Amino acid sequence: MHLRDLIDLTDLRPSELTDILRFAGEISQNPSYYCGNCQHKIMATLFYEPSTRTQMSFQAAMLRLGGKLIGFDDPENSSVAKGETLKDTVRVISNYADVLVIRSPWEGAALAASLYARCPVINAGDGGHLHPTQTLTDLTTLNYTVGRLENLTVGLCGDNKNGRTVHSLVRTLSRYKNNRFVLISTPQLTLPQYLQDEITANGCTVEFSHSLEKSIPALEVLYMTRIQKERFGGDEEYERQKGVFVLDAAKLALAKPSMRVLHPLPRVDEISVEVDDDPRAAYFAQTEYGLYARMALIQRITENEDRQVPPTLADTHQARCGNPRCITQKEEYLPHLFRETAAGLVCKYCDRAVSE
Ligand code: NCD
Repeated sequence: MHLRDLIDLTDLRPSELTDILRFAGEISQNPSYYCGNCQHKIMATLFYEPSTRTQMSFQAAMLRLGGKLIGFDDPENSSVAKGETLKDTVRVISNYADVLVIRSPWEGAALAASLYARCPVINAGDGGHLHPTQTLTDLTTLNYTVGRLENLTVGLCGDNKNGRTVHSLVRTLSRYKNNRFVLISTPQLTLPQYLQDEITANGCTVEFSHSLEKSIPALEVLYMTRIQKERFGGDEEYERQKGVFVLDAAKLALAKPSMRVLHPLPRVDEISVEVDDDPRAAYFAQTEYGLYARMALIQRITENEDRQVPPTLADTHQARCGNPRCITQKEEYLPHLFRETAAGLVCKYCDRAVSE
């Protein structure tokens, strides 16, 4: 890998992504063969937001590589509760560990952490923005269960607005040829415009649907997500959105026999339990592929000596990001970093256009 950190999968060169996916496949054939590859290495998990799968899968991946673990999953038990900044926490813990894995409710937190860390940083989810290692998991699952990453009709059903797994997935999968994305959601929970634009700029197509029944027959992949309750302003709107799209046996009967159902989990009520035993349900196998994908990533990131470290810490422009969920709103010392695009300045932390 030419970069030190994994903040967004699309920062990787295509050949680097292919290598990690291929390596995950190799590991899955004989996981115990790799059991000493991270001996004497320490991974720190900094989880500022609840997690079962991602955290445990990272921990299990490191333990299976022979490495060791430190970290917290309840910031109330760490110095964060005393008011420590992200910058200080990361500086200190990166002196103890060889790799940091961070999850935060703030968009852009992993990029912010990488500016101050002395070791590689992996983004394990930054608010409603991105979740690149879930996408590694999803792509590994597609390689195994569908056999390809291109020429696919992929339905994304649920919370396309707030679902960071959806954001990372479409961003990465639209870089493969000829994929068609069917966005199945209520009008309120549609995919952010910047990601719709990115899909079309990458040469893939986007369609919108308000009916799972009508869309399901054409799909090769159905990616279901829960409504992201924690990203809603209040319970009332959440109550209106939940339960609108539910995959049950009757709807699955309309799908191709070869379609695969993926879900990053946790599931709430969007997939009925009766679907679990259908051969098309791939979401429990997906959690196992996630383990191999993370083993592959941890190994590549910790063996990486010759890597680019983040740039110097100076504002790139006079502008300020207006997204209230952006990490720059919370950690005020952060440099204000922007990209110049056709749509104007875009915040490097959270991908929001300054004009939005
Ligand atoms: C997802 C997440 O945290 O974004 N879970 C996960 O990492 N497997 C999806 C979700 O919480 O809905």
